[in-house]
Amino acid sequence: MDAGTQNSTRNLWMESFRAARDWSEFESALHDLMVDALPAQPSLPVVAKANDPVTAALSAVESLERAVLANVHLTDVRRAELRAWKPILELQIENLALRMASRFTTEHAVLALSKTLGVRDQYTSGHTKRVTLYCDALARALGASESVRRDVALAGLLHDLGKVGVSDRVLRKTSSLSQAEWQEMRAHTEWGFEIVSCLPSLYSVAEILRHHHERYDGDGYAHGLQGDEIPWGSRVVAIADTFDAMTSTRPYREALPVEQAISTILSQAGEQFDPLAVEGFREASREFQEIWSTSTTQLRLPASIDSL
Ligand SMILES: [Fe+2]
Repeated sequence: MDAGTQNSTRNLWMESFRAARDWSEFESALHDLMVDALPAQPSLPVVAKANDPVTAALSAVESLERAVLANVHLTDVRRAELRAWKPILELQIENLALRMASRFTTEHAVLALSKTLGVRDQYTSGHTKRVTLYCDALARALGASESVRRDVALAGLLHDLGKVGVSDRVLRKTSSLSQAEWQEMRAHTEWGFEIVSCLPSLYSVAEILRHHHERYDGDGYAHGLQGDEIPWGSRVVAIADTFDAMTSTRPYREALPVEQAISTILSQAGEQFDPLAVEGFREASREFQEIWSTSTTQLRLPASIDSL
């Protein structure tokens, strides 16, 4: 690669990675690309440890070239095959960089959205943080994959975002709500869906928000879904949200003791909540108590979104 091309490639990758603070994921993906690029190569070139992803990516490409030059046992045909991998490797690195940048951009948009509601309603920011952590603990106890866990954690972070569409009078009311006021409050699930579904890569998260007040027995809102009709993530958020609501003091009522909140959730298996999710809650209840007993300022969001 000549110096000019190397500079413009470096600039392009630098641009793509600007939003990425943690690039350990990139490092392992880069290693996988190198394995693919050098099939049947007895010794893989080592990707140099570097302080930034661009240097690591450039060093990967250079070490591919060096490996080809240094191996005197290669036939001309094999050497040509390996050389042909170089532009493919560069393209794959570029695609990887762009994919990561796009994901980070989306996650920053999520953070901005979640802060919007926190600014509007002070109670919400502590509630949101705890619900996000409860969602992650429960999804983990239920054996969810990494990507499902991330969706559920993002849904926890955004579950009440639609309350930006609820008037202050209703949102801050400390006495019981009238029929019409309940209707306004309940619309937050649809508002949340409408806002978050504007980000196409978060459509599945938007669906979780839309249904997080459904009940397993079909008596919830806004669509009266029941059982497996309710998105799995919504069934997880429902438990996390209810647990936090019960264990938090609000202007109109005292918090319930944590043991009582746990037994109430357990007693609602098959009624308000998915029985399998309740089993996961039973397993994760110690972690729920740890989160509950930690002050909000000391709580850290799950690793998948903590880099925000
Ligand atoms: Fe809600």
